Amino acid sequence: MELKNVVPWGRSLAEYRSMFSLTDSDLKKKILGCGDGPASFNAEMTAAAGQVVSVDPVYAFSGFQIRSRIAEVYPTIMEQLARHRDDYVWDHFSGVEHAGRTRMQAMERFLEDYEAGRQQGRYVEAGLPALPFENQAFELALCSHFLFLYSAQVNLETHVASVRELCRVAREVRIYPLVSLEGTESPHLGPVVERLNAEGIAARREAVHYRFQKGATDMLVLYKA
Ligand SMILES: C[S@@+](CC[C@H](N)C(=O)[O-])C[C@H]1O[C@@H](n2cnc3c(N)ncnc32)[C@H](O)[C@@H]1O
Repeated sequence: MELKNVVPWGRSLAEYRSMFSLTDSDLKKKILGCGDGPASFNAEMTAAAGQVVSVDPVYAFSGFQIRSRIAEVYPTIMEQLARHRDDYVWDHFSGVEHAGRTRMQAMERFLEDYEAGRQQGRYVEAGLPALPFENQAFELALCSHFLFLYSAQVNLETHVASVRELCRVAREVRIYPLVSLEGTESPHLGPVVERLNAEGIAARREAVHYRFQKGATDMLVLYKA
């Protein structure tokens, strides 16, 4: 992964709660955040005595490098968000500025925590489809805005291998959203569920309260049947 190809954009604990329907009892579990990038989920959970490990290839970079890359790409992301504003539901955020400010606050929170978290082993550099964790090391794995969203960039075989790997390292896996960047259901969703079902992994689709990208209304929940 090269820094020039990284587009850092991170969500907050409140957004993770809503995207994954996380209950207070879920938040007490040992959780893997896969593809967390500069989200503040880990930082906020750690401050609240939670147990979260985040894994992402972007953790190859220093906080300084990630911070500079955020500053570099932020204007472009804001411009794209404004241009495609009709692809989003503006219930939670009052507008593009509000969404941008909220994301920046989350990423700032991540950056404040990053170096300490790296030393404590809470930010691990690795990426799907191969994770450096023991079988069932986590009670719950969450994957936000990576699998299914990048369906055009990540092929079906990598999706299958990635979901299988998440099910190896965690007892339960939740993935959100199930739509691709185009806003329509990922073409990989059906085949992934079918292939994993055949391997003894149960999957169910569940509606969530989170609303931002149009069509992104559901998460996928997977566990060993
Ligand atoms: C759109 S961001 C989402 C960040 C965070 N999950 C959130 O919702 O705010 C996608 C993340 O996926 C990460 N990523 C890219 N390739 C990956 C891989 N092979 N395995 C795990 N994460 C990956 C990126 O580095 C980036 O941080």
